[in-house]
Amino acid sequence: PEPGWSIEADVVVVGSGVAGLTAALRCAATGARTVVVTKARLDDGSTRWAQGGIAAALGEGDTPEQHCADTLEAGAGLCDEEAVRTLVTEGPRAVRRLIEAGARFDTSAPDGPLALTREGGHHRNRIAHAGGDATGAEISRALVAAIRGRPGLRTVENALVLDLLRDAAGRTAGVTLHVMGEGRHDGVGAVHAPAVVLATGGMGQVFAATTNPAVSTGDGVALALRAGAEVADLEFVQFHPTVLYLGPDAEGQQPLISEAVRGEGAHLVDADGVRFMEGRHPLAELAPRDVVAKGIMRHAAALGTDHMFLDGRHFGAALWEHRFPTILAACRSHGIDPVTTPVPVAPAAHYASGGVRTDLHGRTTVPGLYACGEVACTGVHGANRLASNSLLEGLVFAERIAAALRRPGPAPAGRPVPWAAGRTPLLPAEARTEIQRVMTRGAGVLRSDASLREAAARLSALAGEAAGTPGASGKPAEPGVESWETTNLHLVARVLVQAALRREETRGCHWREDHPERDDDRWRRHLIVTAAGPGAGTGTGTGAPT
Ligand code: SIN
Repeated sequence: PEPGWSIEADVVVVGSGVAGLTAALRCAATGARTVVVTKARLDDGSTRWAQGGIAAALGEGDTPEQHCADTLEAGAGLCDEEAVRTLVTEGPRAVRRLIEAGARFDTSAPDGPLALTREGGHHRNRIAHAGGDATGAEISRALVAAIRGRPGLRTVENALVLDLLRDAAGRTAGVTLHVMGEGRHDGVGAVHAPAVVLATGGMGQVFAATTNPAVSTGDGVALALRAGAEVADLEFVQFHPTVLYLGPDAEGQQPLISEAVRGEGAHLVDADGVRFMEGRHPLAELAPRDVVAKGIMRHAAALGTDHMFLDGRHFGAALWEHRFPTILAACRSHGIDPVTTPVPVAPAAHYASGGVRTDLHGRTTVPGLYACGEVACTGVHGANRLASNSLLEGLVFAERIAAALRRPGPAPAGRPVPWAAGRTPLLPAEARTEIQRVMTRGAGVLRSDASLREAAARLSALAGEAAGTPGASGKPAEPGVESWETTNLHLVARVLVQAALRREETRGCHWREDHPERDDDRWRRHLIVTAAGPGAGTGTGTGAPT
């Protein structure tokens, strides 16, 4: 559709989590006219739900070098070492700047040093937290407060990004948006800007059960694919090992039980109280996340069940209340009291380790298009993100983008036009649940050639149905937020399945039943994907670790 209104800016930031708001604040501070557009309210994204905390070498005796080693180990041979070094060396200063911006972290004594905890894969206590287990909510509160009324910065809420605009020279020229209920800027419009920063977060809603909120529908990766940008490592979807188990048919956003609960000493046990992670990894319950998720799935399968338990009864009521108030309330709201009962847990989709491919300054392969936070693939996560490195990555790389944008690019050439090479027919909103079920069944924690082919076939059939018409309702899909989101989910699901099919090995959080070993000779490389033409799905290529 043709935009009905437009806003002029120097930078448009799409998304309002830790990455988007940090990028916007830093860009506005340099005098750039900055517009933040966000799909729902400013604090509705994943950042607000982050529990455990933010990892940085801030404790006595800890060093960026040790943080680097843990990150590389978790990443299972696919991290970009230079990106990891950038993350861990710039991380401590970025966290201090966040504190200066108003975020209040827990301390070990009033006015004392930061209280630091441990999570899976870390050999040190280096996770700073806030409000016990409400770290993301505090970061979001502080950043939203910091941007309100900030000169040179405006926000547009309820704005779903549609496609990238480009100028006659092929450079980024802004984005088109679908906005609901924001008065003058309602319906389809555009923000014209020579720099677009994608910070749209993840794609957990591609799966049936996820820790991600409903807004995490892969919009940024879908836009980037349609704009011809490179996307990498999409097969590496991290399944968080300990999500509150609410039954085999639970769907949508599920309550997370932070790794920090294990970091404080809770044990993973089976129904007989056996600590099954002991002997599977030297760090037992605190092994990297993929190892723990696999441990749970394997032990559950051996016992003919589908979940395990997290036992923190020895914490006592006072520690639960002080340290994990959010988790305690969530469990109790489902009738489970962790003070007296082991909590049932199972893995659920949590984090996209891959995304839109960037360099160390957040530049994608499309001139003028940047990406940071979960939507980006900076190379720091490799095949499996280390716990609590995500908020840190959002902070560090958002700051680097703002620094890169201090030097403005060339002025736009000619009229901006939408760039949507791979735009497929809109899918009806009703297809969303089916996509999620297909993906959980075929491309979930445990995958095989057969399960992935089945998922690919069903996703293709859904595309065929959309092209031929109608959705389940018998009417053509109406353009609107729900059908656009479903279409985005469908596109990223197809690309993810293609990459997972191609990667014939098990590495990090990509677990192939039919290729159970890691294969460094063939697969110590990235799968890089670009859109391959209108409606044609995607092509994949490989590249050595960068
Ligand atoms: C958690 O609190 O377990 C989540 C931390 C993360 O995803 O890094």
